Amino acid sequence: MTELSDPVAFPQDRTCPYQPPTAYDPLRDTRPLTHVTLFDGRPAWLVTGHGVARDLLADPRLSTDRTRPGFPAPTERFAAVRHKKTALLGVDDPEHRVQRRMMVPSFTLKRAGEMRPSIQRIVDERLDAMIAQGPPVDLVSAFALPVPSMVICALLGVPYADHEFFEEQSRRLLRGPTADDVVRARDRLEEYIGELVDRKQKDQQPGDGVLDDLVHQRLRQGDVDREELTALAIILLVAGHETTANMISLGTYTLLQHPGELAQLREDPTLLPAAVEELMRMLSIADGLLRQATEDIEVAGTTIRAGDGVIFSTSVINRDETVYARPDTLDWHRSTRHHVAFGFGIHQCLGQNLARAEMESALHSLFARLPGLRLAAPAETIPFKPGDTIQGMLELPVTW
Ligand code: HEM
Repeated sequence: MTELSDPVAFPQDRTCPYQPPTAYDPLRDTRPLTHVTLFDGRPAWLVTGHGVARDLLADPRLSTDRTRPGFPAPTERFAAVRHKKTALLGVDDPEHRVQRRMMVPSFTLKRAGEMRPSIQRIVDERLDAMIAQGPPVDLVSAFALPVPSMVICALLGVPYADHEFFEEQSRRLLRGPTADDVVRARDRLEEYIGELVDRKQKDQQPGDGVLDDLVHQRLRQGDVDREELTALAIILLVAGHETTANMISLGTYTLLQHPGELAQLREDPTLLPAAVEELMRMLSIADGLLRQATEDIEVAGTTIRAGDGVIFSTSVINRDETVYARPDTLDWHRSTRHHVAFGFGIHQCLGQNLARAEMESALHSLFARLPGLRLAAPAETIPFKPGDTIQGMLELPVTW
């Protein structure tokens, strides 16, 4: 491993929304891992090589329990809420295994396949409304956000009528202006979900959402308590809409900036699943997976010490040229096998089948129904999200 003289600060803002930050360019020469400095001045390891990333993401000596002393915090916002119970993503085995087993049946490939017609209905309705409104529109608020938000509401059994509330709290949780704001948003979400759980408990006729099942079966049987169930619902609700919304908005922006690749997709829609996977690899919107070593780990000729923070830059890992030839080129015909944009190991994205179904349906219908879709403002003026959060577009003005 070549070491940089001055560790790069992590995270950094992207300069182009679909490229890793240029400040990470030197990290490509220090693969597979290097030192970075976090906002509070603490050092951490940044994993940038593909093979080492997959080995470490599958290594039980790395914990995701953010309540552990010294767990790496990429931002002050994260530090402010890390004492709160985070289900699935914030727990290690054996607790994780129990929670994951409880949730897996609702997120299988088969279940996502069964949801495709209802996802398509939601996509069609949103497009009807957007087209009726007429151009120009902000694609984020008119389409990219409502589609996954409606889908996850229907799946969980959360009333979509409350979407403004929980979308706003999720936004504050991920990008609130101050640490206090983030703590308040987390508390409000907890209160909201807690009340929803209580209401569902009183329902004589349970609804058909995942939360209804959890309340009427798991909670009643004592498999989970109210606090754990609330934490599970919060992560499903937040992870279920923010991430996919970002992929739809940033995916659309990227396609509009690559007219040749977009034309190929229009000509041959069977390329769509491969295109979604390649967009996942290229965009790597969850760019900084967090872990802490619980024991010393020998890796790539160096030792990660117990207690060290370890962060995975998915954008750099997914452009490892030893695995992906011409990694910076969008190519629907390459193999994207083993990309880590959904993570890897026991915490690999629970909602990935659902997310793929949503992205395929949203991108296909958007470009099929609006052949003249284009940006309604110069590309370089369109605002995108800062590097310390899930990457995506803040707004996407389009016309057709
Ligand atoms: C394109 C959209 C999405 C992306 C890019 C994405 C990305 C990720 C990544 C990278 C992880 C692993 C994090 C880590 O290891 O630290 C993850 C985990 C997770 N994701 Fe997603 N996700 C997406 C959509 C969804 C959806 C639709 C849901 C629906 C509920 C969801 C629920 C979860 C959950 C619950 C976990 C934690 C799993 C565990 O710890 O066992 N995600 N996601």
